Amino acid sequence: MRLENKVAIVTGAASGIGAATAQLFAAEGAHVLAVDMNETGLHETQAESQAAKGQIACLALDISEAQAADTIVDDAVSRFGQLDILMNNAGIGSNAPGESMPLEVWQKTLDVNLTASFRLCQAAIPHLKNAPAGRIINVASVMAQHTDYGLAAYSASKAGVTGYTRTLALELGKFGITANCILPGAIHTGMTAAGFANNEIADIWAKKSPLRRLGHPIDIARGALFLASDEGGFVTGHDLNVDGGMLLRT
Ligand SMILES: NC(=O)c1ccc[n+]([C@@H]2O[C@H](COP(=O)([O-])OP(=O)(O)OC[C@H]3O[C@@H](n4cnc5c(N)ncnc54)[C@H](O)[C@@H]3O)[C@@H](O)[C@H]2O)c1
Repeated sequence: MRLENKVAIVTGAASGIGAATAQLFAAEGAHVLAVDMNETGLHETQAESQAAKGQIACLALDISEAQAADTIVDDAVSRFGQLDILMNNAGIGSNAPGESMPLEVWQKTLDVNLTASFRLCQAAIPHLKNAPAGRIINVASVMAQHTDYGLAAYSASKAGVTGYTRTLALELGKFGITANCILPGAIHTGMTAAGFANNEIADIWAKKSPLRRLGHPIDIARGALFLASDEGGFVTGHDLNVDGGMLLRT
């Protein structure tokens, strides 16, 4: 029980990495507020966790709405009385050539992936300061450091997340709060399901890893657990690649 008596918020918890992380945190003893705009998926995450005696509460909303950050943090604190861990994981992909990318696509990608997570940090920090060991874990991407065709907005949003997270690590260390990013590689989730349904595409991405496989949501959840638990207590301002070694080769 590495998270006993801890309270965690996990966004994007209806699917993929967020669902696996909410369930793993709950299995490790945390009270988890699972947040997502997909209410049905949230309840599936909760039901699977209950079967394993995990404690997950659900909150369905769009994290990019104006009041979302305060609503989420207030909900967690009023339900559970404290907040120890914020895992900003909800995110969207976008794909359009930079030259012709509609401004709405650029804006929406930044609103969800970057601004909403920053606002959640702002709302959470006063409570994390009261925690014995506050934790901010932001899910970026290997595309924060690299890129691909069509990823101008996505790559910018994820590089933004790593940038502001480092700054928060610097500013919040004196309160005992750590702030880190996880940079997933190619993970089989809701976001990538359509692409990886094509065996040829799945194979290409699996072979980019020296381990010769795609990642699973639990691979990322285990990285998040390390950062959330006492084991990660002296790690801050770090970008943790959980990519099966995908970035080793140029
Ligand atoms: N899958 C990958 O290969 C990969 C690689 C690098 C980074 N990531 C990042 O991992 C994170 C999790 O993605 P995933 O791969 O598990 O995808 P996913 O699509 O399975 O899960 C993302 C979840 O976020 C939720 N979400 C999206 N926008 C939201 C909003 N505005 N408000 C509330 N909820 C919202 C979705 O409903 C969904 O349940 C994302 O930030 C993504 O960018 C994924």
